[in-house]
Amino acid sequence: MTTTASTINTLFSDRAQQVQSSFIRDILKAAGQSNMVSFAGGLPEPSLFPAQHLAKSAYRVLMNNGQQALQYTNTEGYMPLRRFIAERYLRQQKIPIDPEQVLITSGSQQALDLISKLFLDPGDEIIMERPSYLGAIQCFSQYSPVIKEVDLSEQGPNAEQLQELTQEGNIKFFYTIPNYQNPTGKRHGLSSRKETAAIIAQSETFIIEDDPYGEIRFDGEQLPTLHSLLPEQTILLGTFSKMIAPGLRIGWVIATPEIIRKLTVLKQASDLHSSHLDQQVLYDYLTHYDLEEHLQRVSNLYSKRRDIMLEAMKAYFPESVTYQIPEGGMFFWLEFGKQFNAMKLLEKSMKEGIIFVPGETFYASNPVFNTARFNFSNTEEDKMTQSLATLGDLIKKMERGDKPTIKWWPLP
Ligand SMILES: Cc1ncc(COP(=O)(O)O)c(C=O)c1O
Repeated sequence: MTTTASTINTLFSDRAQQVQSSFIRDILKAAGQSNMVSFAGGLPEPSLFPAQHLAKSAYRVLMNNGQQALQYTNTEGYMPLRRFIAERYLRQQKIPIDPEQVLITSGSQQALDLISKLFLDPGDEIIMERPSYLGAIQCFSQYSPVIKEVDLSEQGPNAEQLQELTQEGNIKFFYTIPNYQNPTGKRHGLSSRKETAAIIAQSETFIIEDDPYGEIRFDGEQLPTLHSLLPEQTILLGTFSKMIAPGLRIGWVIATPEIIRKLTVLKQASDLHSSHLDQQVLYDYLTHYDLEEHLQRVSNLYSKRRDIMLEAMKAYFPESVTYQIPEGGMFFWLEFGKQFNAMKLLEKSMKEGIIFVPGETFYASNPVFNTARFNFSNTEEDKMTQSLATLGDLIKKMERGDKPTIKWWPLP
């Protein structure tokens, strides 16, 4: 029998058939092929990547310890790196974490996949914030859960809805991004964190606390992690992607020893271990250079870009467009007038060489069409203002088009 494209399709699993390509990846691919100004991706600014320092670290590791660094290793990860991560939490969150409770993963995206494998059978219920990270919706959806959603306000997730859902259902976990959330840029306040921890403590479920942006802070104090408030029922995910460079593909999971053991077996079956060489190079970098100074440089540049985006939106966008000012992270979340369709704006702005992500892609169900996510970390300052002025004109034109210019009512 010869296999054609259509017969191959019938061989694919149900899981593969239902996974959708990420809308963001698709438009980024389109942007990569041309000279677009992109507010679309969640990309760090590449000039901040410490390439010279990492080159020196790679040289040191390969020259001094190459035979070992290039060998297979254990699944849990490079122990000095795990210890470094545990000690940093102790300093910052005042909570002791045994390095054995740290599992190194290939980015936090792999952690999401391993957690899905650990907890989800088809039809299981989980809770997500509304809206939430597209990569998590995409990842969880492979395992066919029923996704319940809680609204996200400026203070944090809606506590009443969370309480109701955790009481009534058999919820496997509540997935949350408490710091400068992707896509909304919102940060949960201290009282919201305490309330979330108290609600989950009364139920038999877990919090999956995804924290890639917590260290990219512009204003305000560091707040306690949900993990520090409820360690037994929280699985905390971290990553070096936004702190140092996503190409390293190094993240981690913090959880109870029992959960780490289970996740380790699943990771073993998946990829044996994350790159041993990269873990050693990263550890060398972390112990030879000043991470805090580097993070300050990252936060300073992003905070400057946030301000430029803010000023441009104030100057060029109509008042119907509203947003909260993010105090860290990489995103503004915009809400347009009620009838506005952000996807239509994208169609028009692409013709002007500008892209962003319409908000509808970030909802697990019942998408909201008058929202959009704008990234400010990856666009050079001079291009930002000009492009936002162009977008402001497009929005105003679309708004005028939404309303009939001549009011005429047929007589009864
Ligand atoms: C909320 C959130 N979680 C996880 C990830 C994946 O990050 P990593 O590069 O560590 O896999 C991202 C990436 O943008 C993200 O925004």
